[in-house]
Amino acid sequence: LQSRRQHDLWKAIRTVPDFPKPGIDFYDITPLLLDHVNEVIDAMLAALPDGLLEQIDCFVAVEARGFVFASLLSGRLGKGMVLLRKPGKLPPPVANKSYALEYGSDTLEIQGGMAPRKVLLVDDILATGGTLNTAYHLCQEAGHDVAGVLVLLDLVDLHKPFPVPVYTVLEG
Ligand code: PRP
Repeated sequence: LQSRRQHDLWKAIRTVPDFPKPGIDFYDITPLLLDHVNEVIDAMLAALPDGLLEQIDCFVAVEARGFVFASLLSGRLGKGMVLLRKPGKLPPPVANKSYALEYGSDTLEIQGGMAPRKVLLVDDILATGGTLNTAYHLCQEAGHDVAGVLVLLDLVDLHKPFPVPVYTVLEG
């Protein structure tokens, strides 16, 4: 059963069929960021179990929309963030990992040489899991301890179980 808050947030997400490719439903979170930004961050924080935030050192955010949510969380809590970027954006030393998309492939990069931290991975949407799985493995290779994944929307049927807990506000 959906709570009133979840219902209100769902109403502000626009589903666009066949974008950016035929057969793909695009979840447009722009209206949420415009008119419900505080409720979204409240809800994401409420999706986490008690005590987890106290354990983590920082957020790890995935380009590009993950940056928005991690920044808002960071600003609220005063914890820092590590940015995982598309290739060619971070100066060396970097580690990268490629992953398959429905059409083609993509790559994420993480900065090397950082002291290991306990981190929470943040993005807007978990769909096939390709992005966050890659982010998880990059963090592990960089020596970070990943406490879990936090997203606004988890499309649960599109991905396999994750090696760490997934915390979400909405399930689709
Ligand atoms: C979207 C979304 C997630 C990812 C989820 O990003 O913001 O990062 O896809 O999909 P997955 O679970 O199937 O990997 P996108 O690649 O569109 O990049 P953007 O945030 O830069 O627009």
